[in-house]
Amino acid sequence: MSKFIIEGGTKLKGKVNISGFKNAALAIIPSTVLCKEKCIIENIPMIEDVKVYKEILTSIGAKVEMIDETSMEIDASEVKEINIIKALPKNIRASYYMWGVGLGRFKRVSMPLPGGCDIGERKFDYHIKGFEALGATVELTDKSITFFADKLIGNRIYLDFASVGATINIMLAAVYAVGRTTIENAAKEPHIVDTANFLNAMGADIKGAGTDVIRINGVAELKGCTYGVIPDQIEAGTYMVAAAATKGDIIIDGIIPKHLEPITAKLVEMGMGIEEYGDSLRVFYEKELVPVNIKTLPYPGFPTDLQQPMAVLLSSLHGESMIEESVFESRFKYVDELRKMGADIEVSDRIAKIKGTGVLTGTDVNATDLRAGAALIVAGLVAEGVTEINGIYHIDRGYENIENKFMNLGARIKRIKS
Ligand code: EPZ
Repeated sequence: MSKFIIEGGTKLKGKVNISGFKNAALAIIPSTVLCKEKCIIENIPMIEDVKVYKEILTSIGAKVEMIDETSMEIDASEVKEINIIKALPKNIRASYYMWGVGLGRFKRVSMPLPGGCDIGERKFDYHIKGFEALGATVELTDKSITFFADKLIGNRIYLDFASVGATINIMLAAVYAVGRTTIENAAKEPHIVDTANFLNAMGADIKGAGTDVIRINGVAELKGCTYGVIPDQIEAGTYMVAAAATKGDIIIDGIIPKHLEPITAKLVEMGMGIEEYGDSLRVFYEKELVPVNIKTLPYPGFPTDLQQPMAVLLSSLHGESMIEESVFESRFKYVDELRKMGADIEVSDRIAKIKGTGVLTGTDVNATDLRAGAALIVAGLVAEGVTEINGIYHIDRGYENIENKFMNLGARIKRIKS
């Protein structure tokens, strides 16, 4: 298996360009199958999960090709049904969007269950509840799931939790439904808005995305279009935390500063300097950082996908801090790996208590999931000595070109292909 070798101790300096947002691309790419005309999606990150989706869409008869490094042309006009036998959907959590698309366009979809990072139960009862409210029936086995409906009729759906996946999936299924669908307590993440903007660009009638009430009025057809994916605020936040941890001074280029407000606010609270220049941020170390407490929440709260890199930063400081993970049931598996590097973190249920020792020491560690892997890279950059990270296929699922981007910032990191 490939691994990363990192020699710690360099302060990150220079500029990093942010790629398109993984979790927006993984919603917008399947959404194109709702349309019988060609769509072009731009600013797509070249990551493993996108490659899996390319295979999934090809397997159902769509024509998918890259027309340049970051633009994908998708023609789903020949797709007659979504009945997936291959195990492809098990590779990623986002394959669940084929449920909303299959119900929306064909009133039927059958496929293996989704996969995704091992960070909790990853239930999908809110998705099922939403689809059933629109008139769908579900057949669930331990390996596959089938949804079907004679007709989809708009309805009012209240989400017990502001679930990102369920919010987007219900939007997808409701695009052609008869009448109005209202999603209450909807998720407000930037990629909910991005997906709604894409659907509206094709001719859907969606209002309120980005607020906790989204209204979808069913339409008769959608037209092909060209659409660019928003930049990845989680990728950007990862580099911001790495700059803080290494006491560096970097420019994060090609971002939407508003999407970064939760992480910017926390780093400023800790003592980092942050200056905004249009679609760039300068993130620089100017004084000793103070530990802070973090509680992860749905947007615009602190993002759960940056909880792990923050734990590394807090471990590298002096002083006590606490992280409460309120979104996922067990997203602290990486702590065992950080302990191998000298971190002093005590976990009970959804709370991690951190005693910053000020020093981490390089050793061999294993990436347990995507964001844990990114956190271990930050740990390797900060640690004294050399860190070897195994299981880096997790990292390649969601970060484009990560070692080269860090190398361009002065990091001593290299990939050893096995
Ligand atoms: C999406 O996961 C993202 N994945 C996750 O990113 C992200 O951490 C998460 O949203 C929260 O922002 C993709 O977009 C592909 P949820 P999702 O539905 O849709 C529970 C990354 O690192 N829940 O908002 O699974 C669920 O168990 C990944 O990029 C139910 O109980 O997130 C979790 O505890 C990791 N029933 C909580 O809600 C449901 O039907 C949040 O889940 C759905 C979710």
